[in-house]
Amino acid sequence: MNLNQDTPRHIAIIMDGNGRWAKMRGKQRSEGHAAGMEALRATIRNAAEAGVKYLTVYAFSTENWGRPQEEVDALMELICKGVEMESDNLREGGIRVCVMGRKQLFSPKVLKAIESIEEKTREGEQMTLILALDYSSRSEITEAVRQIARKVQSGELTLEQIDQQLISDSLLTAGVPDPDLVIRTSGEYRLSNFLLWQASYAELYFSEVLWPDFDKAELQKALEAYALRERRYGLVK
Ligand code: IPE
Ligand code: IPE
Ligand code: MG
Repeated sequence: MNLNQDTPRHIAIIMDGNGRWAKMRGKQRSEGHAAGMEALRATIRNAAEAGVKYLTVYAFSTENWGRPQEEVDALMELICKGVEMESDNLREGGIRVCVMGRKQLFSPKVLKAIESIEEKTREGEQMTLILALDYSSRSEITEAVRQIARKVQSGELTLEQIDQQLISDSLLTAGVPDPDLVIRTSGEYRLSNFLLWQASYAELYFSEVLWPDFDKAELQKALEAYALRERRYGLVK
């Protein structure tokens, strides 16, 4: 893959379509998620190779807790297994892993897996992989508002000091540049509560492919589409 100035620094992906992929093959939804994990492994490698510096993936939304318990359990199991199997590879590849989301509802086993991969890979400098787990953009914004209001209430901040930068710095993505490109697979055209603040000026790319089928060629297509976009930020060229 070519590394050029048109390569997005930060790609965010809504990895959708695992369930339909499984259904089409007469398999359990959990098997679709396992196949999706393979697509994620490949995409991490391909994105790092392309020169992407931040890759954020929507792996489990806060709303996804409402799925059948069996599916939620399978996803949690997959997270633990994936972390266990991949942390050495990721560390060797210079990938730093951060988990973004609420952490209250995870079992001790999942929490331990998350802490362990974050700790193991903290020195990675090639690319930062942000796993959105139990993530909800509206909850994130609500929490930021509360945090800021608390500081105003205590006198630590004045109203005039509230600006866009402060809000960005109060989100879970503090310190991470906004995504340049948001990709959603499976032919769905919505954001589903993902990075609502951060994606204000992101380029959106929708792929018809179901997530388990998202391979290097599909990523290349998205990168090529991105390279042709003209980002205007409300200005005239
Ligand atoms: C995305 O695939 C993975 C998660 C939401 C965890 P889905 O499970 O949403 O797959 P579809 O949309 O039902 O096909
Ligand atoms: C979004 O996909 C969440 C993840 C990919 C983790 P969903 O499948 O949960 O979203 P909706 O329900 O189609 O909006
Ligand atoms: Mg879905």
